[in-house]
Amino acid sequence: VDPVESLDEVVRQQFSAGPGYLNTASVGLPPKVGLSALHEHLRVWENGSKLIPAFDADVERSRSAYARLVEVPTSWVAIISQVSVASGLVASSLPAGARVLAAREDFTSLLFPFLADSRLRVRTVPLQRLIDEIDPRDDLVAVSAVQSADGRVIDTDRLAEAARKAKARTYLDVTQAVGWLPLDLKRFDITACGAYKWLCCPRGTGFITTDPDDDWLTPRFPGWYSGEDPWETLYGPPLRLAPDARRFNVSPPWQAMAAAAPTLELFAGLDRERIRSHSVSLANHLRERLNMPPSDSAIVSVDTPRAEALLRGGVTAAVRAGRARLSFFIYNAVADSERAADLLAGTDGRM
Ligand SMILES: Cc1ncc(COP(=O)(O)O)c(C=O)c1O
Repeated sequence: VDPVESLDEVVRQQFSAGPGYLNTASVGLPPKVGLSALHEHLRVWENGSKLIPAFDADVERSRSAYARLVEVPTSWVAIISQVSVASGLVASSLPAGARVLAAREDFTSLLFPFLADSRLRVRTVPLQRLIDEIDPRDDLVAVSAVQSADGRVIDTDRLAEAARKAKARTYLDVTQAVGWLPLDLKRFDITACGAYKWLCCPRGTGFITTDPDDDWLTPRFPGWYSGEDPWETLYGPPLRLAPDARRFNVSPPWQAMAAAAPTLELFAGLDRERIRSHSVSLANHLRERLNMPPSDSAIVSVDTPRAEALLRGGVTAAVRAGRARLSFFIYNAVADSERAADLLAGTDGRM
């Protein structure tokens, strides 16, 4: 199948986003394959037939599809339910006195676990200076690939290179990136992704990637699902964890995983560069209409007194402290950029 042809076709068949839904940076909308798998799961849950055997298959399908999406071996992928838990895993694995460098504007599920750990020395700097501030005394650089607040994209090549030179570990939060921005995550010591935004999965699904042969991370929250075969690690000592990244698994949110598996497989089969250029060009269309310079992000942050007009005019966007955050994805079209531009410019005839 020609992936260029297939993206439009897949969007037509799979998604029912209403006009003006520009809020994927808050919540991604589910494809039909995910919803029907969830409905099927709920039906089976209701009557109890063939329920338990399907659980693990959903997790393994999700890990494997996510691995393909971010270009790492499946053995590097573990499931998490929140990004803050991944950040806590990283923070608690660092030795006392370790130096952590982070961006001041970053999302708190990334920052708070480090700030809450009084053993660590955390330095926050403005994002635009972060890469240049990396210092050989830093033990870890923790940052989002794409900023939640305004969509700014960090140069991941420069970041990886600067950290490598300084011999600092890297922790990259890819929640606002994976799905629209193609990334090779092998270059980072650990990455974390909440899959409910740009991967259109249910809340409670997420992934970390880390090289399982590198043992700098301590499994801080291991449970029965952190074993090689979870059904063999239900009771009692000794500690027996999976040799690969599954040793960092938390127990799966079953209902959510049922929808995640086919959804991630759908994304893994799509042309990622096409998704990026579609999303960024819609964002740039809005920027152009607002006399803003073009950018490399699918997210547009607008300082506007008219943020509320967007909502009244039927555009779903995030509004925070007078700034509107509009995010563009595969199920959006030029009409969405136009509508948002008209409302923000006050040329839609509304007050
Ligand atoms: C960059 C980033 N990381 C993480 C999250 C979600 O974190 P958590 O899974 O801890 O709720 C968000 C949600 O907005 C985000 O923008």
